[in-house]
Amino acid sequence: MSKIVITRRIPELGIDKLRKTFPEAYIDYHDSEVKLDLNELRRRIRGAQGIIALLDDQLSSETLAYAPNLKVIANFAVGYNNIDTEYCKNHGIYVTNTPDILTGATADLAMALVLSVTRRIVEADRYTREGKFSGWGSTLMLGTELRDKLVGVFGAGRIGTEVIKRLIPFGPKIIYTTRAEKEHLQQLGAKYTPADKLLKQVDVLIITAPLTTETKYLINFQSLRTMKRGVFIINVGRGPIIEESALVHGLSTGRIAGAGLDVYEFEPIVTEDLKLMDNVVILPHIGSATHEARNGMSEMVADAVISALKDERPQYNVY
Ligand code: GLV
Repeated sequence: MSKIVITRRIPELGIDKLRKTFPEAYIDYHDSEVKLDLNELRRRIRGAQGIIALLDDQLSSETLAYAPNLKVIANFAVGYNNIDTEYCKNHGIYVTNTPDILTGATADLAMALVLSVTRRIVEADRYTREGKFSGWGSTLMLGTELRDKLVGVFGAGRIGTEVIKRLIPFGPKIIYTTRAEKEHLQQLGAKYTPADKLLKQVDVLIITAPLTTETKYLINFQSLRTMKRGVFIINVGRGPIIEESALVHGLSTGRIAGAGLDVYEFEPIVTEDLKLMDNVVILPHIGSATHEARNGMSEMVADAVISALKDERPQYNVY
């Protein structure tokens, strides 16, 4: 009998599909929003052939050693920096993610953050709720337009590309950094620029990259010093791409004009200073949080487990 572990609550669609496909399987479903602690995670994955994991379940080699029969980890996310993929590759374990289905939702959220921060939407909402709105003011809550500004997209993969398309009608000049120059982005009028040059020039930086050894702490005390005074920074990639203490320093000295964050260095902990700043918008990692994306992701992780348990290569294996 196969054992499939689902480490936390996910939309029902995928679970129904698994139950229908493998009526005999033991589906160990942790039907809760509360993350399993490491000991419990290790206890549950013993004897599992399939794991459906969430992006903050740390599946290191030490933990995966508890699941010697494992065939697949289906990560309910596009990012998979929580999994030791080298270990999986060496042990014949498929690792899958959920690309494409969440691209639009995440790009929309990046744009929502850009506009919220540059037009001070959350701050203005708070101001109005607090009863401070006493009449139209010619200098009240002035923001910054994107038109003619230089916007840099760091990590122009699927999500970054969709962000670029959404930016175009707002009229900025757009540059991007990614592993290799991309013809289709050139055609959209976006110009490839290496990371260090991009950081020095941009008025708005949008981070959509995955977390890797190259992207970790892209924004740190040193790189921040090279950036333009008054830059806006948006991060929908992964928290540790920004050293949060440097970000706080930049915000408090005015080098950074505002920040929009969906992810955090020490997630789910958010640096206290950030919560106190009016020019910062902080979200609880909801880039892909739409009904459409999450239902699709649920089906995708189920499909990945189904393929692997039938000894077929899953469609979205990451290597
Ligand atoms: C969300 O951050 C994801 O990687 O899907």
